[in-house]
Amino acid sequence: MTQKRVTKAIFPVAGLGTRFLPATKSIPKEIMTLVDRPLIQYAIDEARAAGIKEFIFVTSRGKGALEDYFDNAPVLEQELRKKGKEDQLEALQDTNMESGAIAYVRQHKALGLGHAVWCAHRLIGDEPFAVILPDDVIAAEKPCLQQMVEAHAETGGCMVAAMKVPAEKASAYGVLDIKDDLGAMVSVKGMVEKPKVNEAPSDLAVIGRYILTPSVLRSLNQMKTGAGGEIQLTDAIAAEIQEGRDVFGYRFRGKRFDCGSKAGFLQATVAFGLARDELRDEFASYLHDIVAPKNAAE
Ligand code: UTP
Repeated sequence: MTQKRVTKAIFPVAGLGTRFLPATKSIPKEIMTLVDRPLIQYAIDEARAAGIKEFIFVTSRGKGALEDYFDNAPVLEQELRKKGKEDQLEALQDTNMESGAIAYVRQHKALGLGHAVWCAHRLIGDEPFAVILPDDVIAAEKPCLQQMVEAHAETGGCMVAAMKVPAEKASAYGVLDIKDDLGAMVSVKGMVEKPKVNEAPSDLAVIGRYILTPSVLRSLNQMKTGAGGEIQLTDAIAAEIQEGRDVFGYRFRGKRFDCGSKAGFLQATVAFGLARDELRDEFASYLHDIVAPKNAAE
């Protein structure tokens, strides 16, 4: 059965980003840069590739730099044009958003990811929508959300991106309780947010890509708090299962970097740096020099 197309995406960017203090005291986490592009640009590019036409940002105080990033920069563009810097002008093209395609909603208090998504409910109609967490950056031949949108066109229901995690790391994630393993995806009979060590129902964790149905927003409307005293998106998706609706975990093909953590951000910097033709040789040789033992015989 072909489902309604997914054309809207919510980008919850209202978190405090405390793991990157002091940087995030004045810079939104999503403006932090991998090589020369802010995290939010990777998220927007992925959404565009998946056919998203409307981009909804859930922001908070101090995120002005994010809104500026998507504004036209006529003085800068004029200057680059005058100097014939066509390649730099082209790099700016990706930051341009069509008027009316982008909306900002404010989350007044950081009450949790579920609450952030709920804040956008008036902008979502009776159609499935995507949620992208820009601090999960995914390197993939076919962008992760595009893979999911294609799979969702067949299945409908809710779909979350799922990734295998070692048992000792499961308590940092929402974890899927699997009903049927269908290969590329699993059908889900339950979800546990941040399970205690050894209580995770599987090794499949949810990461920051979702395709959701509007009924999830109705469930978030109840403002129930969950793990960590926050309004959890996972709980609202789990409630879908209780109501007898389908939820799938999609095993995406690609490598996910947790750019909300320092270690993940540094790993992504190395991976994305090495992936760039103009940097690869010099950067690889530098990395080789600093990690190679001074004297291999020692
Ligand atoms: P995180 O759990 O990474 O929280 O949120 P955070 O505040 O961004 O960062 P730390 O943990 O303090 O370092 C995951 C995603 O959910 C959004 C964040 O912006 C991020 O994209 N979020 C979280 C909100 O928009 N609002 C919230 O109330 C909580």
